[in-house]
Parts: sequence; C-alpha cells; structure tokens
Amino acid sequence: MAKKFYITTPIYYVNDRPHVGHAYTTIAADVLARHYRAKKYEVFFLTGTDEYGDKVAESAEQHGMHVHAFVDQNSQAFREAFDRLNIKYDIFMRTTMPEHEASVNIFIEKLSKAGALYQDEYVGLYCRSCEDFYTEKDLIDGLCPIHKKPLEQLKEKNWFFRLETYLPAVQKLITSGKMKIEPTKRKTEVLGLFKQGLKDFSVTRERVQWGIPFAQDPRQKIYVWVEALQNYISAIGYGRDSERFKKWWPADVHLMAKDIIKFHAVYWPAMLLAAGEKPPKKIFSHGFFSINGQKMSKTTGNVIDPNTMVQKFGADATRYLLLTQFPFGSDGDIKESLFVEKYNADLANNLGNLVSRVLNMIEKYTGGAIPKIVASPKSLASVGKHIESLEFDKALKEIGATITWANGYIDTNAPWDLAKDPSQKSKLETVLSELAAVLKELAPALGPFMPVAAAEIHKRLEQPSITKGQPLFQRLA
Ligand code: MSP
Repeated sequence: MAKKFYITTPIYYVNDRPHVGHAYTTIAADVLARHYRAKKYEVFFLTGTDEYGDKVAESAEQHGMHVHAFVDQNSQAFREAFDRLNIKYDIFMRTTMPEHEASVNIFIEKLSKAGALYQDEYVGLYCRSCEDFYTEKDLIDGLCPIHKKPLEQLKEKNWFFRLETYLPAVQKLITSGKMKIEPTKRKTEVLGLFKQGLKDFSVTRERVQWGIPFAQDPRQKIYVWVEALQNYISAIGYGRDSERFKKWWPADVHLMAKDIIKFHAVYWPAMLLAAGEKPPKKIFSHGFFSINGQKMSKTTGNVIDPNTMVQKFGADATRYLLLTQFPFGSDGDIKESLFVEKYNADLANNLGNLVSRVLNMIEKYTGGAIPKIVASPKSLASVGKHIESLEFDKALKEIGATITWANGYIDTNAPWDLAKDPSQKSKLETVLSELAAVLKELAPALGPFMPVAAAEIHKRLEQPSITKGQPLFQRLA
C-alpha cells in the first residue's frame, strides 16, 4: 500500500481578497504535496476558506453585499489565485459547505457527550480581527496586541470548552514529541503559554448571526475558530465516512504562520482528545513577513496581490521569488523592488541560460543527441531531505549552487573550443553528456518549486532531436 501524506494550510478568512501572505503558506504546502506525490505517496492536500463570523459579516456589510454573495465572491478569488499559482490542492474546503456543518455537529455532540462542554457567562474582551478573546493583561496600551485596535466588551451566556481539563494531556503530547511543533523556537513559545495560564474558552457565541447554529441551543452560534479548525476533519469525512476519515487522519502536518499557533497547538489537540481522536502529527509554523519594512495592510497600501505577481513573473517565478526571501521558519521582510533583480539573476540568467546553453551545444555539436550515458557529476540527493524538513531555502540554495557550478563547468571546459579540434571529440561528448545529466537531475529537484519549468526541461531533453527552444524565463527590464 502506498504511503500517505496529509497536509493542510489554514483556511483563509474571506473578509478580503487573497494577498501574498496567503499565497506563501499555500505555495509551501504545494511544494511538499508535489514532492511526496513524486515520491509516489498518496497525498491529500487541503486548503480553503473560513467564511463565518463577525469579521466576515461586517466586511460584507461594508461592501454593501449580501453575506452569501460576498463569501462566494471572495472564496472564488482565493481559488482563482491559487489556480493561477499552479497550486494543486486535492480539496478546497469552504466552511459554508453542508458537509462541513454536518461533521461539525457530530464533533460538537461528541464533545458534549464527553462532558467537555458547560454553560457559563463570559465577561471579557473580544477582538473581531483576531476573532479571539482577551484579558486585560494581554493588551498593549489597552489595545489588541496584534491589531492595535480597541476591543469589544462582551458579556454573553456561552457554552464553554473545558480546556483546563485537557491541558496536562496536551502538554504531554508536546513535550513527548507525539505531536511535533516546529521549528523548536515555536515549541518553546507554545510551552510558555501553558506557564502563563490558559483558560477554558467559549465554543459558542450569543450575538453572532453569521455562523453554524449550536444544535443543543440554536440561539447560539458555534464560535468561528472552533468550527474552522474542524475543517481539517470534515474535509476527510469525519462522522460521515469513517473509512475515509480513518485513512487520512491524523494529518501529517498543519502548516501556518505563528499568528494562529495557539489555536492549532493547544485548542485543537485538546478538542480532539476530548472527542477521542488523535492529535495531528506535526504543526509547523513558518515566519511572518512584512513588506518593505512594514506590516502588510490596506491602510499602509503595501498589500501585494499574488495575481499581479503571476501576471508579471509567471507562476513558477512567483513561487520561487516568495520562497527565497528568507528561511522558511524565520520572520523576514519582503522587498518588492528586489523581485525583478532576483528574477533576472537567478532565473533568466543562471537557470535559463544553463538550459539554453546546454541544449544549444547539443543541437550544434552532437547533432541533437546526448552522446553517451554518464553519471551526473553533481548530485541533488539532499534536496528532498531539505524539503521534508521544510528547509526550502536550503533546498533552493543547493539547486542554485548546482546551476552556478554547471555554468562554470561550461566556461572552464569551453566546448566551443573542443568542437574545433577533432582530437577532442570524446572529451566534448563527455562534457555535454555530463551537462545533460545535470539537467536531468535538476528537473525533478525543481519540480515541486517550479513545476512548469521542470516539466519543460524534462520534455526538451526527451526530444528525439534536441533543440534549444525558447528561453525558459524572459529577461525583464
Ligand atoms: N481563518 C483563520 C485560520 C483558520 S485555520 C482553521 C485565519 N485566516 S487568515 O486569512 O488570517 O490567514 C492567516 C494565515 O495566512 C497565516 O497563519 C499564514 O499562514 C498566512 N499569512 C497571512 N499573512 C502573512 C504574512 N504576512 N506572512 C506570513 N504568512 C502570512 O487566520
């Protein structure tokens, strides 16, 4: 039986259109999914949209749209952006799907039967942008620590989840490594949350209109985070298709940025344990990035639309440019002005030239055929390992170094001189065969990152009579 790999991205809020932050996580997940598919794993790659809650409803109102039409439109915008980026997801989940609601009802009932829910009054603060509850001590200058906005004072009768009961078990999952949290610094941060004290949280909201009704008490709606997390199991048939659920759960990795790690690393496993299910195997939080030194926001006007990037650079290059900004697990800054420079240097020049030069020389000097079968002088064996440990920067550095090496190998051996001297025929054939072998290694290594270019390199090498063809990446001014 084929090995399996289940990977998820967060499902994104549809209060707005997609930006490069959403694209970043989804591209990374796509790289992993493509890598494992190439390794012949059976892969299930989930992405999608989170459509309920006040934040979304309020945004619909501000746009003067009916909430249903609004979420349809924005969810579609995410799907289209991901399609343009060549993201090959297996399911695009929407929390407004009836299947999701069906699974959520079954899961909540499980929690209730397990005695994990109780009714109480919530008095406290709420940030609509985070869709999260806060206490006075969390605030910075009296404002939401993340959005720097004033919070709503809430006093509601809610249903609560007994988080505190499950905290010791969740902590043990983390310390024992049964549920991995990576990189290590994020694991340390999450364990720090336990020390600061975590409290039972509301699983329902009284005043929210736009949400899934809580079956036991339909005047209440299920708290958006509680049902949104369940998309990871509703997507694989939780409570509706036990075979399918058993096949895929637990997920191999939940991917996200650090902004939402508490929900994934504490609340989610606690709810799963309460419902008698296994926790995910791994939670990986990549860095959070700013744009040109500032937090990406509409007010600053520095939001980068992934569609615009695809229009300018194409899907492959957009994927490459976003993933090569800084190490995947670290925070960093994206400098938009450097995109063109990097595109020209790494893709149009280094990679594009290598492919053109090698194919051109095979066309000209050896009649369009790769002269002999030789082993590649460079191995890219560790690229796969770097991908599996989510060190995409290392994988791409190794690929880049091989491309640079191969261009240097051409210069040192000067096949154009060898071609002039009949006594050098065998040397010429060896050099060109070696270069073709390097390209053959490069294509699959590039595949998860730049699927179109990789397929093109592969196709060109397979031609009965090799020709140089069009440049893979046109230089940009
Ligand atoms: N709807 C929730 C997630 C529910 S999952 C059960 C949500 N949505 S979101 O639209 O705000 O997406 C947050 C995620 O988008 C981050 O965790 C990250 O994956 C991605 N990013 C958004 N902005 C980003 C950056 N500036 N930098 C890196 N990742 C970014 O939270």
